[in-house]
Amino acid sequence: MGSSIGIFDSGYGGLTIFDKIQKNLPQYDFTYLGDNARAPYGTRSFEVVYHFTRQAVMTLLDQGCRLIILACNTASAKALRNIQQKDIPMLDPSLRVLGVIRPTVEAIDNISLTKHVGVMGTTGTISSQSYNIEISHLFPHITVTGEACPMWVPLVENNEFDSPGADYFVRKHIEHILSVDPRIDTLILGCTHYPLLRNKIKTFLPQGVALFSQGEQIAGSLKDYLLRHPEIDSRLTKQGRRRFLTTEAADKFSETASIFLHQAIAVEQITLSENK
Ligand code: DGL
Repeated sequence: MGSSIGIFDSGYGGLTIFDKIQKNLPQYDFTYLGDNARAPYGTRSFEVVYHFTRQAVMTLLDQGCRLIILACNTASAKALRNIQQKDIPMLDPSLRVLGVIRPTVEAIDNISLTKHVGVMGTTGTISSQSYNIEISHLFPHITVTGEACPMWVPLVENNEFDSPGADYFVRKHIEHILSVDPRIDTLILGCTHYPLLRNKIKTFLPQGVALFSQGEQIAGSLKDYLLRHPEIDSRLTKQGRRRFLTTEAADKFSETASIFLHQAIAVEQITLSENK
């Protein structure tokens, strides 16, 4: 049976990744799932993020997705390993679930000249130390500093990312991380919501500090993955279809998603599958 590529985020943030992926792989079919009713995940415990993410993966599997991208750093940081190691063998050994942290990190050595890198993320992503661990595996010569920005996702989810009120929270975290390590020359936006704050962040960045968003990198890495795995690629359907599922009200999702995707979309409300 052919299947679409599943893309999961706690809410709208994964749409920034989905948008880059669909532009790179327009012929593929995609099913996007946002757990908007329970977003944000960023301040939730390891157990809760794992439990919610597992339900989302099972839901996408029930919808026929056999390749799923966790387009959420928090879910990638807190749930991916357990899902890959414990759940997939039990649920369906042919299922593939990929995260966004590893492919993001792979690019970083080519970008930073000072080899001092900062990561902006949710409290969950930063406290998990996932970026530090991945970077130290691949590039032990890079120094990593993390900065939790707990207000940034709510600013985006509430469509306040361009407002003057956002300035305070954006400036506060940029100034703080650069005071902790003034040699940082690259800031990774380690949360899929943050690209919407990009213009605002830029206004507070000193010269010589670059911003690195994940979208292009994830899209390129997925394309490469499909080339390297023809056995997975061959079971994906390619009719350019898109489905959008949310655990919140469909009209609410559709209105906010249009800000991310610059187009109107049809949305279905869904209840997530119970843990088996
Ligand atoms: N967009 C998600 C991420 O990349 C998390 C946002 C949230 O639910 O807190 O981390």
